Amino acid sequence: RALALTDTFGRHHSYLRISLTERCNLRCQYCMPAEGVDLTPKDDLLTTRELLRLAQLFVANGVNKIRLTGGEPTVRKDIVELTGALARIPGLRTLAMTTNGLALTRKLPALKEAGLNALNISLDTLRPDRFEKFTRRRGHDRVLQAIDLALELGYDPVKVNVVVMRDQNDDEILDFVELTREKAINVRFIEFMPFDGNLWSGRKLVSYNEMFQTIASHFPGGPIRCADPKGEVAKNFRIPGFKGSLSFVTSMTKAFCGDCNRVRLMADGNLKVCLFGANEVSLREAMRDGASDDELRTVIWAAIQRKKAAHAGMFELSRTANRAMIKIGG
Ligand code: GTP
Ligand code: 5AD
Ligand code: SF4
Repeated sequence: RALALTDTFGRHHSYLRISLTERCNLRCQYCMPAEGVDLTPKDDLLTTRELLRLAQLFVANGVNKIRLTGGEPTVRKDIVELTGALARIPGLRTLAMTTNGLALTRKLPALKEAGLNALNISLDTLRPDRFEKFTRRRGHDRVLQAIDLALELGYDPVKVNVVVMRDQNDDEILDFVELTREKAINVRFIEFMPFDGNLWSGRKLVSYNEMFQTIASHFPGGPIRCADPKGEVAKNFRIPGFKGSLSFVTSMTKAFCGDCNRVRLMADGNLKVCLFGANEVSLREAMRDGASDDELRTVIWAAIQRKKAAHAGMFELSRTANRAMIKIGG
């Protein structure tokens, strides 16, 4: 049965990312254009029932990890109930979320109780004034509180995602590393990637190499390479004596497509077999046309067979149609 999710390159897909909503309570520039995006009409979004049916089908076919994304997943009104329902799917090992953290001081205890067992929080600056520039909204202190709460509740690791952009926050790399001295968090420096409407340019990209050199020249004893858990995209390091760790997500300069284990379900029910490109198929339409589970499995299998060996390279990608990031969820 697990064969349904293996592609023509032998990559087995055990990790499903589900975008739960296209809405967000922030307006980050790398994720959406200033004018916003057209939201999908409500009738064309997956219902909770449809979403759960698909999640069960994926888990029955070899998925053991689901990550909830958005938009911002916590703005969904039924997020706690939905988390609980997903966590109860037999065979699912990891139920994770990537969130901007704004709502966590209110919602994290209930989410944890419901079965959320892994957490990535996005935070691109340690400076409150800059946060507003980055996100076009307020809330910096709440995100910092959310990180501490996640640690208190025992999330391990608490991953903190930092998208590094030239002249915007590349002068904070060492401050983020400093944060790992006393906090047992995993700070992840992410290369800026091109999506529709985010004004990507090669100049704004700060490469893995450059970030690494910045850190290495300041911390002579480190960073020291650590093991990378299977199926994860980050390269992991630690600085000797620091409680936390640091990582790099090198999608642009050192792609990791050869180990790709991910598929994505969009809020509108489209299945996306790669983060990049416009290759999508509507599982919502198939379901509403009355497809059985076996027929759905065939649609999913066919889509996965069309998956390419690797993405097209950053300059090609910046000219290739895709969704805005807010409608993908990373
Ligand atoms: P783990 O499940 O903990 O490994 O998290 P993750 O890094 O996969 O997920 P997260 O949502 O925290 O994303 C961190 C960064 O990795 C974001 O910039 C994502 O867009 C990027 N990312 C996630 N999955 C993929 C992928 O399959 N390919 C590429 N190129 N980038 C990815
Ligand atoms: N490049 C790299 N990472 C991005 N993210 C959002 N937009 C981009 C981009 N253009 C990150 C968010 C979040 C994760 C889902 O993806 O910061 O942590
Ligand atoms: Fe997988 Fe596409 Fe990401 Fe490569 S770019 S790792 S193929 S999702």
